[in-house]
Amino acid sequence: MTGDSSLTGDGARVGGSLFAALELTTGMAKRAIRLSSGYEMPILGLGTWEAKPEEIETAVRTALENGYRHIDTAFVYRNEEAIGMTLKKWFENGGKREELFVTTKLPSYGHGAGQVEKYLKLSLERLGLDYVDMYLIHAPFSVLKDENAEAPLKRDDGSVVLNLDTDPVAVWKEMEKQVKSGRARSIGLSNFNEDQILEIINNSEIKPSNLQVELHVYIQQKPLREFCKKQKIAVTAYSPLGSPGSKTFFQGMSKYDPDKFPNLLGHPVVQKIAEAHKKTTAQVLLRHLVQQGIIVIPKSSSPDRIKSNADIFDFELSNEELKQMDALDRGAAGRIFDFLFVKGVENHPHYPFKSELTQ
Ligand SMILES: NC(=O)c1ccc[n+]([C@@H]2O[C@H](COP(=O)([O-])OP(=O)(O)OC[C@H]3O[C@@H](n4cnc5c(N)ncnc54)[C@H](OP(=O)(O)O)[C@@H]3O)[C@@H](O)[C@H]2O)c1
Repeated sequence: MTGDSSLTGDGARVGGSLFAALELTTGMAKRAIRLSSGYEMPILGLGTWEAKPEEIETAVRTALENGYRHIDTAFVYRNEEAIGMTLKKWFENGGKREELFVTTKLPSYGHGAGQVEKYLKLSLERLGLDYVDMYLIHAPFSVLKDENAEAPLKRDDGSVVLNLDTDPVAVWKEMEKQVKSGRARSIGLSNFNEDQILEIINNSEIKPSNLQVELHVYIQQKPLREFCKKQKIAVTAYSPLGSPGSKTFFQGMSKYDPDKFPNLLGHPVVQKIAEAHKKTTAQVLLRHLVQQGIIVIPKSSSPDRIKSNADIFDFELSNEELKQMDALDRGAAGRIFDFLFVKGVENHPHYPFKSELTQ
């Protein structure tokens, strides 16, 4: 299968302004981006970072019951097993594997020789699946693993031990083997910068079909999106709501004081647009992205919020409203996930945001 990354589904257009009036429950699974691998990736997915295993069953079940067909996880989220148990019940009740899109990610301590296959097999075992729809390299930098191979090796001062013996192209070659073996349908990258993506493209047999990066109104990634469009790479926005949960998670490890943590959901421009459409600010933030053909993976463990975050296909932002939201972009300064919470990672030659550190 071949194809561009383009939006499919009833009357939807990439970069265009319209979704035809769509019926939520029946139409949602159809709203998808056609990947260069030939597969379709639903434009809305459920994020699961920091969703506790005991919350996952309710979250994933609620999502599936409300039309989500895309679940985003990672080896490091430590919830693949809980997701797998929930999916098992869904399959037992008639849910079809081919209707589901599951993404997981290779941990940064899994870049060594032979490790890609090992970690993907572990993820598949935990998820109870024969294949994942998308396997991403979680980040370009690499660290050594601890004795249990389930976390980075750390020194007494909390800093990670960098692995300087791997390079992303070698890891990508191992990723390609996972497609050939049928363990991954599509492969992609996360947290790579433009130069790093280009190096992979120039040295690949199978091109990356998806890039997952932080993307929301404060960091709109316009140059990177433009680059991805040319390269036929579909873009997934992580932290599309500005990751409000990170405010407490990153306390003491982030460039933001908790009282200055970005509050996208409370931004007056977003609030005004939400009032005009009788929508929540979360719905407006998500709509701003999907209307531009960007895949979104909002995380919630609350059934009400999971439902309402999916209710974004029955309204349209005007060009003026899109313009107002575009103007909120702070570029790289809007980044929350600089990964400096991984102590010492900025010293890795493949740390992707080096040029931002001196700004
Ligand atoms: N590749 C990477 O390196 C990377 C990095 C970060 C994230 N991700 C992925 O992207 C997903 C989303 O990013 P994220 O979790 O950082 O941030 P997010 O989706 O922007 O925000 C999630 C937070 O917003 C809250 N929330 C959700 N819906 C809401 C609503 N309608 N109104 C008010 N609050 C709401 C959630 O709390 P409740 O649960 O209480 O609703 C949670 O605290 C992750 O879960 C993960 O799957 C990937």
